[in-house]
Amino acid sequence: MKTLLAIETSCDETAAAVLRGYGEVLSHTVFSQADIHSAFGGVVPEVASRSHLQSAPWIVDETLNAAGIGVGELDAVAATNGPGLASALLVGSALAKGLAIGAGKPYLAVNHLEGHMLSPFFGHAEIPPHTSLVVSGGHTLLFDVRGFGDYQLLGRTLDDAAGEAFDKVAKLLGLGYPGGARIDQLAREGNPERFDFPRGMIDSGDYDFSFSGLKTAVRVFLEKHAPADADLPDLCASFQAAVLDVLLAKLFRAARECGHRAVAISGGVSANSALRSCADGRAKRDGVSLHTAPPGLHTDNALMIAYAAAHHAAAGRTSAIDEDIHPNFDPARLQAS
Ligand code: KG4
Ligand code: ZN
Repeated sequence: MKTLLAIETSCDETAAAVLRGYGEVLSHTVFSQADIHSAFGGVVPEVASRSHLQSAPWIVDETLNAAGIGVGELDAVAATNGPGLASALLVGSALAKGLAIGAGKPYLAVNHLEGHMLSPFFGHAEIPPHTSLVVSGGHTLLFDVRGFGDYQLLGRTLDDAAGEAFDKVAKLLGLGYPGGARIDQLAREGNPERFDFPRGMIDSGDYDFSFSGLKTAVRVFLEKHAPADADLPDLCASFQAAVLDVLLAKLFRAARECGHRAVAISGGVSANSALRSCADGRAKRDGVSLHTAPPGLHTDNALMIAYAAAHHAAAGRTSAIDEDIHPNFDPARLQAS
């Protein structure tokens, strides 16, 4: 069984993890920069990379100490090398490469989205055939997954990502950044049918998504109606229902059309309580199994990177030490990795 250190710095979480095999967590640390960026209303790349630079060395050190092992006992050092903010990715990948060179260990570059995509199967050696919905702050992607390393992109957002829509609407509602979890919380007390917001592209017949029209609809509504604080829960619930309806309609239709008996939802938005309960209901109705990541592994973390790295290591793959970062999402790179 291999023991891997993974480092994740693609956006505004500085994270490190030590994983043995596919599910023995020796330690894992996530430091969120959200409080630093909230003052700016969103992630500032320069601020993110400086914060990673300050935090990553001691976070890696503490994570190794908590695991009770030294770099010399690792089988490989992995890091997220994209997609993400270039200046943020550079910090984690350079640190991983430095450790790998210093200790004479292999380096493993891992795709952040593959980390999210595999996270619902954390602990398992096998990735079953399934339809995968990755919903994060930066991406909304639907994949036909036939097994580890065999991913076919079915659709993606044409504008805002689902998490981005949550964050932008939260900002419009004065709920701060990042607002997804706050909308989730308020929506629990609200009526999802009170306001009728558009379900963008729900009948488009393809697997692509669009959320910018929904965001605009909420903005126009707020300009016209100046709702009271008491309306906030209903607004959150109605907006959230519009996002979930489209996500789940396409996910379960794709599962039917691909002939899969399993679906998986991952990424920060998969922490959403309504998304999870609606998905659970639909999965039962359709007779498919629903997979989501264990608690704490929905939003960015390094354990999901270590878990993806464990699959690559088992397949005998390592990365060249001069492997570059790849800030932009490229489906071909995900497939080939
Ligand atoms: O996967 P993630 O940590 O980062 C990216 O890779 O982008 O996702 C962060 C996103 C943010 O947009 C955040 O608002 C959203 O996930 N999020 C949620 C919830 N928790 C986090 N959205 C809806 N409901 C939640 N409970
Ligand atoms: Zn992410």
